[in-house]
Amino acid sequence: MKEYILSIDQGTTSIRAIFFNHDGDIVGVHAKEFSQFYPDSGWVEQDPMEMWSVTGEVIEKAMAKSNIKEDEIVAIGITNQRETSIVWDKNTGEPVYNAIVWQDRRTAEYCDQLKADDPEIEAVVRNKTGLMIDSYFSGTKVKWILDNVEGARAKAEKGELLFGNVDTWIMWKLTGGKTHATDYSNASRTLMYNIHDLKWDEELLKVLNVPASMLPKVQESSGQFGVTAKIFKREIPITGDAGDQQAATFGQCCFKKGMAKFTYGTAGVMTVNIGEKPFLSNNGLTTTIGWGINGKVEYLLEAVAFSAGSAIQWLRDEMDMLDESPDSEYFALKTKKERNCGVYFVPAFTGLCAPYWNSYARAAIVGIERGTTKNNIIRAVLESLGYQTRDMFDAFSEDLGERLSILKVDGGACNNNLLMQFTSDIVNVDIERPDNTETTAAGVAYLAGLAVGFWESQDEIVQKRTVDQVFHPQMDEELRSDLYNGWKRAINCNLEWANDR
Ligand code: G3P
Repeated sequence: MKEYILSIDQGTTSIRAIFFNHDGDIVGVHAKEFSQFYPDSGWVEQDPMEMWSVTGEVIEKAMAKSNIKEDEIVAIGITNQRETSIVWDKNTGEPVYNAIVWQDRRTAEYCDQLKADDPEIEAVVRNKTGLMIDSYFSGTKVKWILDNVEGARAKAEKGELLFGNVDTWIMWKLTGGKTHATDYSNASRTLMYNIHDLKWDEELLKVLNVPASMLPKVQESSGQFGVTAKIFKREIPITGDAGDQQAATFGQCCFKKGMAKFTYGTAGVMTVNIGEKPFLSNNGLTTTIGWGINGKVEYLLEAVAFSAGSAIQWLRDEMDMLDESPDSEYFALKTKKERNCGVYFVPAFTGLCAPYWNSYARAAIVGIERGTTKNNIIRAVLESLGYQTRDMFDAFSEDLGERLSILKVDGGACNNNLLMQFTSDIVNVDIERPDNTETTAAGVAYLAGLAVGFWESQDEIVQKRTVDQVFHPQMDEELRSDLYNGWKRAINCNLEWANDR
């Protein structure tokens, strides 16, 4: 009989259902973009009910397209855009507010206030959670909902409301309200979870004024979470859950200390496995739980570029410069002059993350001349992803005390050869692209499959990863450092503008 693992990948802009066979090959897939709302400056919201209905739709369509039957699905894994926060009524199943998306900056001033009121708090939070006090993470978003939605705090205090990131919400819906849970990797992005004790942290919950009764149970990323009560007619076990970046790290088989990956999604995220003992970065990186499996917890250092794929989508949707995102390579290749005529794009649509951490920065284009064309702008957007990778890579090298020798890439934009070559050139590192670039979905499929014996061990999974291409640096050092200096100048003028508000 045929057997498959289903991955549900809840991304920021699209939701996908992807089926994997025993060889780790994709045998069925369906994806759909869903609505984004921008109700105010710096605000980004989504509709949790739409997420749920799109989830059902993509699963049904993926099964129909590939002729997969319910009784062939051995287990399900869920992976998700992290930090995005949903609060719902456990009796009615209705969200009390839209999902506040990780990109949302509405709590930036509250974060500033928190730090101004208590100079010690930043260090306390950092030591316990591995994170910075920033509006990116879930904690202040949950507090905002409780403080701003009429009646929400009173209901939360009576134990009637539940909080979850997107994994928890979808799992709760899928199990018919039976499972309110998450895994270590997602909990570690909330600002409320102690990554050393592996517990929700009472002191931080008090600071943020979030009742513990709202919080999901936290468990290993690979294990029994519950069984389906919706969408399917039979009970299918849900046995994998991980934040999308941690899932991608697992899918890239970064199982050893020092192994690194970069994922091009809506955001661009670099992670490095740092083993079983967490430490804090001195260079603006966060420390995060990678996964928990078979009683073992592994940690990652992480850096995020808030806008990666979303910057290319902006060229497509708002600027009308592209019909399809992959066309960016064709247009960028038309810019014949070296150095892209001095044009730089800083993709700070929702602020700048590691290593800059500025919630008030906004996107900018610098160096435009009378002869600048659309193609230069497109190229500048692609190159900005390479420059951000260099910023991150340098911060990782400082923290680790050595340069990483190879960077594994995945996610949609890694199929853009110009982007891969430029990144290899500007970072000065080998870039390795696997055959399967859907490593986020693969990672959580592996976590789910390992829990039910579909795959025996992580060693077996390593055998399934094959390499498509390695990009080697070709740029000379003089050009590399000239170009990168130009990027630093663009960033500095952007930060000056943000800080002078
Ligand atoms: O932390 C945000 C990250 O999880 C978003 O992921 O894949 O939607 O870019 P993605």
